[in-house]
Amino acid sequence: MAYSTFRNSRIQIILLILSLYYCRATVDVSSDAFIKGHMKPLGSHREPLAVEELTSIPNPKTFYDLYTKPGKPVILRNAAKAIPAFSLWTDEYLSEKFGNVQVLVEEGKKENRSKGNFMTSLKEFVSSYKTEDLYVVHTIPKEMREDIRMLPCVSCGGFAERLLDIVMWFSSGGTKSVLHNDGSENLNCLFRGSKELIMINKNVNYNALFDNSGFSNMDVDKVDLKKYSDLMHMDLYKAKISAGDCIFIPQFWLHQVRSFDSNLAVNTWWAQLFKFNETSCQQNKGDTYLNPAKYEFATYEVLSFRMAQCIIIYIERRNQILGVMSKHKKATKQGFKKILKRSDVGPIQFSVVFSAFDSNKDDAISFDEVQELPYEQLSKLFPNWQYEPEGEEEEMEPQRDEL
Ligand SMILES: *[C@@H]1O[C@H](CO)[C@@H](O)[C@H](O)[C@H]1NC(C)=O
Ligand SMILES: *[C@@H]1O[C@H](CO)[C@@H](O)[C@H](O)[C@H]1NC(C)=O
Repeated sequence: MAYSTFRNSRIQIILLILSLYYCRATVDVSSDAFIKGHMKPLGSHREPLAVEELTSIPNPKTFYDLYTKPGKPVILRNAAKAIPAFSLWTDEYLSEKFGNVQVLVEEGKKENRSKGNFMTSLKEFVSSYKTEDLYVVHTIPKEMREDIRMLPCVSCGGFAERLLDIVMWFSSGGTKSVLHNDGSENLNCLFRGSKELIMINKNVNYNALFDNSGFSNMDVDKVDLKKYSDLMHMDLYKAKISAGDCIFIPQFWLHQVRSFDSNLAVNTWWAQLFKFNETSCQQNKGDTYLNPAKYEFATYEVLSFRMAQCIIIYIERRNQILGVMSKHKKATKQGFKKILKRSDVGPIQFSVVFSAFDSNKDDAISFDEVQELPYEQLSKLFPNWQYEPEGEEEEMEPQRDEL
C-alpha cells in the first residue's frame, strides 16, 4: 500500500516535471493540442447524452404529449420492421419494379450544399451506387409510396393532415450531412444499414454555429473548436439506429447524420401539431399503419411557401400589437385584452397568453415583452391566428386614442 502510494506520487512528480518541460519547450503551441476534440469529428469533444429509446410504438396521444409537443427526440426500436419496404426493397426489387423512376442524386456523400445534383433512373443508380460517390435524396413518387407505411403513433390526432414530404435516402453508406435543422417534424425509418446522429436541443441558442446561412458550414470531420467555440458549452445528444429502427427528430433540433453500410431510409416531415385532435382518434384507435399513397403531401414549394407565410403572418401580427402599444409603455391586463381583441387573434386562453407575455411577472405587458416573445411561442399561443390573404389590411389601422 505504502509502496504503491509512494510509487504513484513519484510517477506524478516525474509527469509533472515532464509536462513542465514540455510546456516550456513549446511555449507558443498555447492551447490547440489541449482542446479536446479540436479538428476531430463532431461529437469528439465531449461525452454525448443518450437519446431516449422505446421498444414499443407509443400511441398518438402519448407521442404528442411526451415527444412532439415538448420537442423531445426518441428512438423507436424495431418500429420499421412492419413496413413492407423493410423486407421488399432489395436492389433487385427496386430496379425491377421501379427501375424507370427518376430520382434526384446528390454528388458527394459528404454533404456540401454548394455541390450539384442530377436526375437519373433508379435502375441506373442501383447499378452504380456501390462504387460511386452518390446519394439519392428524393421525394418518393406515388407508385413507391404503396410499399411504405406511416407509424401508428401518427395515425390520428391531426398529424396526417399536416404532412409535408416523404423522402428516400439511399447510398452505399459513408454519407455525412452538415449540421443543420429542419423547420418541420421528422420521423426517419431505416430499412438498411445504420446511422449515427449527433443532436443539439432546439432550446439552445446555436445561431453562432450557422455562419450566416441556415446551417453550419463547419467541417464535420474536423471541427474547428476555436471558430465554433460556442459548441464547447452545448450538450450533445447521440443516437445510433440500425435497420428496422426509426427516430423522431423534433423541429429545430440541430442534427448531423452519418450513415454506414448499404443504407436506405425513408423519412416523413410534417408541420408541427399545436393541438391534438382527440375526436380524430375515436374511430381510428391509433394502432394502424397509414398508407402514405392515400394522403396528401405538400410539395417542397408549398412547404417553403407555407412556412414563410406562417412566419410572416406572426411578424405582421406582432407588429400590429406593437403598433397599438407604441404610445404606451405598459399595458395592464385590461388594456392588453383590448389590444388582442383588436388584433383578431381568435379564441384564446387569455390568462395563459398574458402570463406568457409577462416575462418579468409585474402584471403588465411592456413593448419589449411583446417584441421578445419567440415566434415559436407566439404560434403556440395563437393557433387560430390565421393568415388573411389581403383585403383586410386597410381597416386594421389601430385607433390609439381609445386606449
Ligand atoms: C464545398 O465545396 C466547395 C466547392 O467545391 C469547397 O470550396 C468547400 O471547401 C467545400 N466545403 C466543405 C465543407 O467541404
Ligand atoms: C378533428 O378530427 C375530426 C375527425 O377526423 C374532424 O372532423 C375535425 O375537423 C378535426 N378538427 C380539427 C380542428 O381539425
